Amino acid sequence: MASEYFVFDLSSRSLFATVTVAMVHFWCWSAAAVCTTLPIAASTSLKSANDSEVLEYVNPLIGSQAGGNVFAGATLPYGMVKASPDVNGENTGGFSTDGSQITGFSALHDSGTGGNPSLGNFPIFPQICPSNDINTCKFPLGARATNYTNDSIIAKPGYFSVSLENGIKAEIAVSEHAALFEFDFSRGSNGNGSADPLIMLDLTDLWASRQNASIHIEAEEGSEGGRIKGNGTFLPSFGAGSYIAYFCLDLSGGTVKDSGVWVNNRAGTEPKDLYVTRGFNLFYLEAGGFVRFRGPISGPISARMGISFISTDQACQSAQDEIPGPDYDFDGLVSKAQDAWRKKLAPISIESGGVDENMLVSFWTAVYRTMISPQDYTGENPHWTSSEPYFDSFYCLWDMWRVQLPFLTILDPLQQSRIVRSLLDIYKHRGWLPDCSMSTCKGWTQGGSDADNVLVDAYVKNLTNIDWNLAYEAIVNDAENEPLEWSVEGRGGLASWKRLNYVPYLDFDPNGFGTNSRSISRTLEYSYNDFNLATLAKSLGKDTYKKYIARAGSWQHLFKADQPSDINGTDTGFTGFFQPRYLNGTWGYQDPIACSPLADFCSLTSNPSETFESSAWEYMFFVPHDIAKLIELLGGEETFLERLDFFHTSGLADIGNEPVFLTVYMPHYAGRPGLSARRAHYYIPSHFNSSLDGLPGNDDSGAMASFTLFSTIGLFPNPGQNVYFIIPPFFESVSITSPATNKTATIKNVNFDRGFQNIYIQSAKLNGDEYSKNWIGHEFFTEGWSLELVLGREESSWGTRVEDRPPSFSDATGSVGYMD
Ligand SMILES: *[C@@H]1O[C@H](CO)[C@@H](O)[C@H](O)[C@H]1NC(C)=O
Ligand SMILES: *[C@@H]1O[C@H](CO)[C@@H](O)[C@H](O)[C@H]1NC(C)=O
Ligand SMILES: *[C@@H]1O[C@H](CO)[C@@H](O)[C@H](O)[C@H]1NC(C)=O
Ligand SMILES: *[C@@H]1O[C@H](CO)[C@@H](O)[C@H](O)[C@H]1NC(C)=O
Ligand SMILES: *[C@@H]1O[C@H](CO)[C@@H](O)[C@H](O)[C@H]1NC(C)=O
Ligand SMILES: *[C@@H]1O[C@H](CO)[C@@H](O)[C@H](O)[C@H]1NC(C)=O
Ligand SMILES: *[C@@H]1O[C@H](CO)[C@@H](O)[C@H](O)[C@H]1NC(C)=O
Ligand SMILES: *[C@@H]1O[C@H](CO)[C@@H](O)[C@H](O)[C@H]1NC(C)=O
Ligand SMILES: *[C@@H]1O[C@H](CO)[C@@H](O)[C@H](O)[C@H]1NC(C)=O
Ligand SMILES: *[C@@H]1O[C@H](CO)[C@@H](O)[C@H](O)[C@H]1NC(C)=O
Repeated sequence: MASEYFVFDLSSRSLFATVTVAMVHFWCWSAAAVCTTLPIAASTSLKSANDSEVLEYVNPLIGSQAGGNVFAGATLPYGMVKASPDVNGENTGGFSTDGSQITGFSALHDSGTGGNPSLGNFPIFPQICPSNDINTCKFPLGARATNYTNDSIIAKPGYFSVSLENGIKAEIAVSEHAALFEFDFSRGSNGNGSADPLIMLDLTDLWASRQNASIHIEAEEGSEGGRIKGNGTFLPSFGAGSYIAYFCLDLSGGTVKDSGVWVNNRAGTEPKDLYVTRGFNLFYLEAGGFVRFRGPISGPISARMGISFISTDQACQSAQDEIPGPDYDFDGLVSKAQDAWRKKLAPISIESGGVDENMLVSFWTAVYRTMISPQDYTGENPHWTSSEPYFDSFYCLWDMWRVQLPFLTILDPLQQSRIVRSLLDIYKHRGWLPDCSMSTCKGWTQGGSDADNVLVDAYVKNLTNIDWNLAYEAIVNDAENEPLEWSVEGRGGLASWKRLNYVPYLDFDPNGFGTNSRSISRTLEYSYNDFNLATLAKSLGKDTYKKYIARAGSWQHLFKADQPSDINGTDTGFTGFFQPRYLNGTWGYQDPIACSPLADFCSLTSNPSETFESSAWEYMFFVPHDIAKLIELLGGEETFLERLDFFHTSGLADIGNEPVFLTVYMPHYAGRPGLSARRAHYYIPSHFNSSLDGLPGNDDSGAMASFTLFSTIGLFPNPGQNVYFIIPPFFESVSITSPATNKTATIKNVNFDRGFQNIYIQSAKLNGDEYSKNWIGHEFFTEGWSLELVLGREESSWGTRVEDRPPSFSDATGSVGYMD
């Protein structure tokens, strides 16, 4: 998905700078900043698996402004707890470098999502009350919001720190289910020795979606530290229902002066319990608790926040188990997190060939961002008991199936297999595969049933430990049964789909309910879902194969061959687009440029249309299984390539949203792999780079990251099929050791030049033998093959022959059909 309200701040660019001074790297906000200095190897050309400094190339702040919405704080790979400051500006992912103010520090977040800000529950906030009078402290969010010092930000995997303008400094580390915040008050503006540091907790979340919440304070005057615990019911940021989160906050570092609760801008030491709910007109009461320490204190105040979706006791227990006290090992937590991240990045090594260092930063940070979400909530499932893994923050599979999950299939297949199992466990217990989920709730579906594509991609890539018969049953359920509420699962309009083989415009559907829009994009997505089902059916020897492979061709029913397209009254010269079609077979009309960047954005709620978050121009190319047929319908290779070119150069393509990704590589199907390479170089780094605003749209849980990665390693997937398109990697060579087999695959350029003049493959060798196909299968990774590409400045005849192109279902040549 993309944000329903993009905020593009085009004025603030490239605040992030990398300064290399005498082999020392400074990772910080600006070149003038004084921040940590990290020793780094002199050579930037080799980052091997053993190179422990590879983390120095990860900058979590990339995408922290201009709508990237990335989570910039501290997290473990797939960690449930993600801790960071929260701001009052662009705060979908919590923190942002947009110059807005910090309102709190919280432990749950999502990364890169669009729509409403997600999670950010139970923020805490440090302050000193002027004159040490509790009533001078600022409790409500608007009052306490404080500027931070841009130059003070340090963001690294597993660590984040920032100084507020009032001098209070925060450092953040995490475990799986708990966060450790350390607040240094020694330079606080009132920190003159006698001031009394206060930590408050707000019973809210980023979206102020709280329905009701409880808090209980245990912090006796005179005791060494105290505990605040409680719970709250909140709404998911893009889904149905509500969820309950529980917390357990332990505060230490001084002697308690007083504690209590606050409501609006008043606080008192009695009572020690509070329950808030929505009152008259859904009135939102700001309230929470506080603990104040007696100054002077000698060190930082530590705030250990345990979180659970099960119970307060579980939150306290996880915190104690994972971050044992009373003396916390903050540095130990950071180094544990960094070890975990190092291990995750270890399977890849590159020889950069001397490319601009920003490319390395962009690359390694992208690898990092593919493993922030989905989040491993195993042991925290409030809905059913199971021994299977439980993942959450599939936000949404529409975004994740195309590149992010396929990337994990290569780099972290054991986790990807657990992710797939968790999807199947959701099917088993809820009766439906999810399409989107967050905060343990069902999210809104965007089109087809995208989990189908995820399961079949895992199948064709031989992921292990998955019950494929259960997977088949789950996908058949999507294909055959319409749920009552298809806005959260399954597919709508199934009766019409089965009868007419397209989703009609303004369908009559008394069998279930959902947003009755997107008839074109849903038809195209259902077609691909059914293609995937057919793939699995065939492999499992089911005779339903014939039925589903026939349905996979249904996209053709919405192709209106004589449909032209104008832009501002000027004919683009291209004819033939997908168009909406009524139940009676008559054509409806949607301007082919509608919903493109040249027109209005179309989502579920804003401007719902017959295409979702993209135009008919862009969806014209969404036939991943039969591009040969598409080329034929559009009038042959030449017009097809011209159309692709026009699409990418006219402003019609939205490179910041997922449906566009495959179009970059489609010239491979017309025998022009060089054009795909050229297009990839057009977009990277101009649209995907290492600046703070270096993402063209919401990262969508690592989708933008994965587009960068697959393009950079030179092998781009068409998921659901055992196909990667080959272009030259953006580095001299890339090696990836498969964690499934321990074999190392290498793709290597000969005649590589770091100025990217030589981006055209002249010839290739696979394991030493001539290789002429412009695509390769997943065995490349699992079998540890070696691909050597000889590059030149001009397109060559390599990979152009009909028999060298990737397979299409109705392959004119009848050659390498993967369905044979
Ligand atoms: C900090 O950065 C933000 C975002 O670019 C900018 O608006 C603000 O002016 C900066 N603050 C200072 C003090 O430079
Ligand atoms: C020091 O802090 C105390 C308590 O907040 C306050 O009363 C006093 O005015 C402060 N002194 C200075 C010099 O700021
Ligand atoms: C916070 O920063 C903004 C922009 O940098 C500035 O306009 C504002 O006055 C600052 N607020 C305070 C309380 O210093
Ligand atoms: C809290 O809110 C939820 C959702 O509105 C509701 O189901 C629940 O009964 C409420 N709980 C309490 C204790 O009021
Ligand atoms: C939340 O905490 C309150 C106070 O301890 C308790 O009465 C209530 O049952 C809790 N709610 C849930 C859903 O556990
Ligand atoms: C999957 O396993 C089969 C049987 O061992 C093998 O033939 C095939 O090449 C494998 N596919 C991939 C993508 O590794
Ligand atoms: C169409 O014309 C309007 C008015 O001249 C102009 O603002 C707009 O940019 C044009 N759109 C395109 C896609 O050329
Ligand atoms: C088909 O239905 C549409 C929408 O109701 C209507 O405008 C059109 O006239 C109908 N076509 C025929 C041939 O009845
Ligand atoms: C980096 O990417 C952003 C987002 O696509 C883009 O706006 C910006 O111009 C790019 N910066 C550079 C230096 O290419
Ligand atoms: C790969 O290597 C690891 C570490 O040496 C080992 O634990 C694992 O069993 C190996 N896996 C395979 C498939 O050989």
